[in-house]
Amino acid sequence: MAQAPRILKTKVGIIGGGPAGLMLSHLLSKVGIENIVVEKNDHETIRNTHRAGILEAQAVTMLTESGVDGRVLTHGDEHAGIDLRFNGESHPLDFRELVDATVTLYAQNEVFVDLAAARSRDGGDVRFNCEVNEILDVETSTPKFRFTNAEGELFEVQADVIVGADGSRSFARRQMPDAVKQDFKVTYPFAWFGILTEAPKSAPELIYANSPHGFALISQRSETVQRMYFQCDPNENVDNWSEDRIWSELQKRVDGPDGFELKTGPIFDKTVLGFRSFVRQPLSHGRMFLIGDAGHTVPPTGAKGLNLAFAEVKVLFEALDSYFSTGSDKLLGGYSDLALKRVWKAQNFFYWMTSMLHTPVNADPFMAQRALGELDTVTSSRYGQQYLAESYTGWPHA
Ligand code: DHB
Repeated sequence: MAQAPRILKTKVGIIGGGPAGLMLSHLLSKVGIENIVVEKNDHETIRNTHRAGILEAQAVTMLTESGVDGRVLTHGDEHAGIDLRFNGESHPLDFRELVDATVTLYAQNEVFVDLAAARSRDGGDVRFNCEVNEILDVETSTPKFRFTNAEGELFEVQADVIVGADGSRSFARRQMPDAVKQDFKVTYPFAWFGILTEAPKSAPELIYANSPHGFALISQRSETVQRMYFQCDPNENVDNWSEDRIWSELQKRVDGPDGFELKTGPIFDKTVLGFRSFVRQPLSHGRMFLIGDAGHTVPPTGAKGLNLAFAEVKVLFEALDSYFSTGSDKLLGGYSDLALKRVWKAQNFFYWMTSMLHTPVNADPFMAQRALGELDTVTSSRYGQQYLAESYTGWPHA
């Protein structure tokens, strides 16, 4: 006979304990809205998954003002600009001067560590290593999901609202019926080869480089660890790349008459990151709401993924707070449309930055020259620089 599940009752059942799910759980608990977070992976797996590292100022404020942790201020590195490099020349953009804003370099795994620690400190109900295998009754006022823990025991979470925060391979998203959903997707003919290296910083600001050999991004993690990426084939195998080959490829892409040289060191992580744009519409169905990568994927250029997720957490949190305090579901009903506006702005920003900075795969010389014309247009005009700076540092939260 099938095992009867143990029942857990709560107000908000959150599927996914990455940064988006944990941030929502933290905000809800602060105003006394009970919630349970169920995460498939264990803490260490998430902690060791390398993602982008740029936080918009608004994301930093969400971490500090909500009392998650101030470590982002002491360990994060505030950046007031980037360097756009093309034709072998540097073009610094000063975000503070252009739009009075900055971003903070603080790796996404650190955000996760801080959030998980805060939930544990505040007695939050977060269950790692638990896999959700069924979502029921989201079209009613008593939605539920079932999960199995590491010991194989079955549980059922009965909630007022369910949130899918379970990442790009979202189980929650897949439960939405065909009749109500629309998916938009694009795949790209290139990817990023990402490395982590023990080396000093090569330059004070991040460098986004367009070169005839392809795009490169020189990013950072700390004074002694650096993150770098270069445009590659999506099927590239990291095992074919020795340290010497990687350094020579990266250096080629930032070479110029100014003699700029990367500071090198031992490489301790190599990964190929695929490029995929995806948007699910709507971001809700009945009493289930999607946040973060569960509802959309933005490829890495411009580092919008986590920032977008946090912006959605804020909108959904306010809607849930209003729902549980007044009984009105007006804000919940507007969640998807409001969130999607920002999603499409981020998709456009990614697409624009990528087409301007990457080398077209068919090596079309016209398109390569056109991109240089665009970079020149942007960097030689204050309006152009401001457009990039405003998008990069983040549009105001709704
Ligand atoms: C990083 C990644 C990005 O996609 C980006 O635009 C900036 C920084 C990073 O991982 O450091």
